[in-house]
Amino acid sequence: MELLIWVLLFSSPWQPSHCLDLSYNNLAFVPPNIPRNETDINLSHNLITTIGAGNFSGFNDLKKIDMRTNSLTSIDTKAFINSTIKEICLDDNKFEEFPYFEQRTLNNLQASFNDIMNFDLFWFLTNNPYVTNLEIRENRLQSVHVNQSYESASLVDSIKSQAILVYLHMGGNQINYLEPGIFNGFKKLTYLILSNNLLNISIGCDYINDTNISSYTLSENQITSIPDLHCVAQTLRELILRDNRISVLSSTSIEQLPYLEDLDLSRNVYHLPAWTQSSSLSLKLSGNPLKCDCRWEWLFSPSEAWREIRERMVPAEEVACLGGPHFLSLMPWANLTQSEICPRNDNLKRLSS
Ligand SMILES: *[C@@H]1O[C@H](CO)[C@@H](O)[C@H](O)[C@H]1NC(C)=O
Ligand SMILES: *[C@@H]1O[C@H](CO)[C@@H](O)[C@H](O)[C@H]1NC(C)=O
Ligand SMILES: *[C@@H]1O[C@H](CO)[C@@H](O)[C@H](O)[C@H]1NC(C)=O
Ligand SMILES: *[C@@H]1O[C@H](CO)[C@@H](O)[C@H](O)[C@H]1NC(C)=O
Ligand SMILES: *[C@@H]1O[C@H](CO)[C@@H](O)[C@H](O)[C@H]1NC(C)=O
Ligand SMILES: *[C@@H]1O[C@H](CO)[C@@H](O)[C@H](O)[C@H]1NC(C)=O
Ligand SMILES: *[C@@H]1O[C@H](CO)[C@@H](O)[C@H](O)[C@H]1NC(C)=O
Ligand SMILES: *[C@@H]1O[C@H](CO)[C@@H](O)[C@H](O)[C@H]1NC(C)=O
Ligand SMILES: *[C@@H]1O[C@H](CO)[C@@H](O)[C@H](O)[C@H]1NC(C)=O
Repeated sequence: MELLIWVLLFSSPWQPSHCLDLSYNNLAFVPPNIPRNETDINLSHNLITTIGAGNFSGFNDLKKIDMRTNSLTSIDTKAFINSTIKEICLDDNKFEEFPYFEQRTLNNLQASFNDIMNFDLFWFLTNNPYVTNLEIRENRLQSVHVNQSYESASLVDSIKSQAILVYLHMGGNQINYLEPGIFNGFKKLTYLILSNNLLNISIGCDYINDTNISSYTLSENQITSIPDLHCVAQTLRELILRDNRISVLSSTSIEQLPYLEDLDLSRNVYHLPAWTQSSSLSLKLSGNPLKCDCRWEWLFSPSEAWREIRERMVPAEEVACLGGPHFLSLMPWANLTQSEICPRNDNLKRLSS
């Protein structure tokens, strides 16, 4: 019992907060009588079509509004005047135009699962300069570019240099064009997700130079080669490229990423000759000896693509390792094992047993 009380004490929010739950109420508009001292307001699963001027003004402690699963198509630019709102969820509504409004307190906006076709990232950040997290996935965006109407590049540069955007999720759209340089200079950008779009070129340093990207997701596109990511070599930890059309694995493009921990290249090019069995991948490693170390350990995990590659796509007698311990320098693919490529695991096992 005592334990339970401790758990409750320490897991409860450190600041007093209170959630007014008005979800599932068949509300057609934002009710006028919400106490102006609320911190969290849940209006999800109603029938609200618009957020009008002043609907959320004068809230002095407001942190979060959940408006998901309504029928919203518009938000008045003055909807949140004089409010301290930090986080708004607009998922699963009926927006076709992105709802721009000016709110300098906003940190987090979710506008996924709508029908938005155009999004001007720079106009958004001009209006909401303190946003750190933006999700606009599962919409109908086709491109991300700098709006022609911006008079000068320096305006865009100054928006970027002031931005504190950390997390950007634009997955599940129909993006087939990104303007070169579009994300360059977002110095805080750490998580970039562009999965499940129609990108057919490698979105590398021409697009994300001078960012802080640590986790980069490009899965489910039509990319044919591993992007050049040397510009984020110091920060990149996770690179997800599964379900693309990459047919050649150039080991140098990976080896220039010294801190990479997770690399997912599963389910890439599928056009195998008919004589091969029903599965899978023709990622070619041949002619690309690896600098054998723990970064390639994933190749040996049976659930990953590696078994296929090794059995079919690399001549078994070809030398596998370019560098690494001397005893590996003549080791053919057929002989290489996980513990040889990454002895660390064995040591850890020994230590822990
Ligand atoms: C808001 O103020 C009313 C009246 O002053 C008070 O009864 C209520 O407990 C307050 N609610 C919150 C969430 O602070
Ligand atoms: C709001 O209510 C809905 C329905 O009960 C729930 O799914 C959702 O998690 C709530 N939102 C927040 C922010 O708690
Ligand atoms: C919400 O906005 C609508 C449309 O502008 C307006 O008619 C209504 O009075 C507003 N309600 C509140 C509580 O501000
Ligand atoms: C916002 O606050 C300012 C200063 O307190 C006040 O003059 C203005 O009328 C308020 N606007 C709204 C829409 O509440
Ligand atoms: C570009 O800016 C103009 C003027 O501000 C606006 O009307 C237009 O919708 C913007 N286009 C995009 C794609 O955001
Ligand atoms: C870059 O991201 C790391 C976390 O991956 C963080 O610790 C660091 O503060 C970030 N740097 C900047 C300039 O935002
Ligand atoms: C990539 O997609 C664009 C736009 O759909 C198209 O114009 C271009 O030809 C494609 N390029 C390649 C290499 O497939
Ligand atoms: C990338 O950014 C760095 C740091 O701002 C800069 O020195 C370098 O010239 C840029 N490279 C390209 C190709 O733009
Ligand atoms: C590789 O394995 C084969 C068969 O087990 C063995 O004959 C050969 O000596 C091994 N080669 C090396 C370099 O370990």
